[in-house]
Amino acid sequence: MQHFLNTQDWSVDGLQHLLAKASEFKANKLGDQLKGRSIALLFFNPSMRTRTSFELGAFQLGAHAVVLQPGKDAWPIEFELGTAMDGDTEEHIIEVAKVLSSYVDMIAVRAFPKFIDWQDDRQDKVLNAFARYATVPVINMETITHPCQELAHILALQEQFATRDLRGKKYVLTWTYHPKALNTAVANSALTIATRMGMDVTLLCPNAQYLLDERYMGWAEDNARAAGGSFTVSHDIERSYAGAHVVYAKSWGALPYFGNWGAEQPMREQYKHFIVDEAKMALTDGGVFSHCLPLRRNIKATDAVMDSPACIAVQEAENRLHVQKAVMDTLINHPE
Ligand code: CP
Repeated sequence: MQHFLNTQDWSVDGLQHLLAKASEFKANKLGDQLKGRSIALLFFNPSMRTRTSFELGAFQLGAHAVVLQPGKDAWPIEFELGTAMDGDTEEHIIEVAKVLSSYVDMIAVRAFPKFIDWQDDRQDKVLNAFARYATVPVINMETITHPCQELAHILALQEQFATRDLRGKKYVLTWTYHPKALNTAVANSALTIATRMGMDVTLLCPNAQYLLDERYMGWAEDNARAAGGSFTVSHDIERSYAGAHVVYAKSWGALPYFGNWGAEQPMREQYKHFIVDEAKMALTDGGVFSHCLPLRRNIKATDAVMDSPACIAVQEAENRLHVQKAVMDTLINHPE
């Protein structure tokens, strides 16, 4: 049985196969590949794109999706082992995963970090517990990485550059300001997939406090070496944008301040100038701009950038529908 927890667990050929299949689903929306099948979508956090695209994707291939929000419309779940459950949780992950596996063919999970203790959150306990106790494939709908977003992003770039081979493209992942400290998931994912595809990747962030977790920095280095691309860190805005083919923006909280965001905020406030604007995009080599969405306009990127032909964020969001159909079809009908 194969899960879709992280793209790093999949071969490059396997990822390219998913992307090619997603292109086919984009051309032919309806099918019966999942006829009579079902998927449980568990949301521990809010969503617009992920929920809509998974529900519709399942429907368009003949499957039924059940949406559950543990702690809201479903019982709160306990994830600690061996604990006396005398708090707020009503049932244990062991039963939840096994019971859902007896009903549905796939389980998909969105569970963001709790933003209290990164050493705890980096273990991705909720997702890994489902993968451990479920007897059906488990899909990551964003935890501390966002692999479905990765595929949608790469598909949009492949479409934009009219090639499956993105090697040689200069790719900038830029930190941007946001009034709140946000999840590092999409940033971890962007580094992972961009280096995996062999691009020349720069992580642009204000200072060393905004470096990502060593696991994802390590994956980026290993992937770049294996794929013949490169991975560098820069705090220099002009140099990073110069000649770029792709600018991908994301905001995230500085990991050394995890759980103590009040202390991070004065530092973060100094870096509002990391906003993606026309002047920065003019430094690129006619580069495209994207973001996973949702995006606060004129905070992370200006109206002018969002409304420009260079912005492919909506195309990337649409691709979520197609890549997730490819993932569901592959896990059910063509597992490796
Ligand atoms: N990009 C993304 O995952 O969007 P939602 O949070 O709306 O699902």
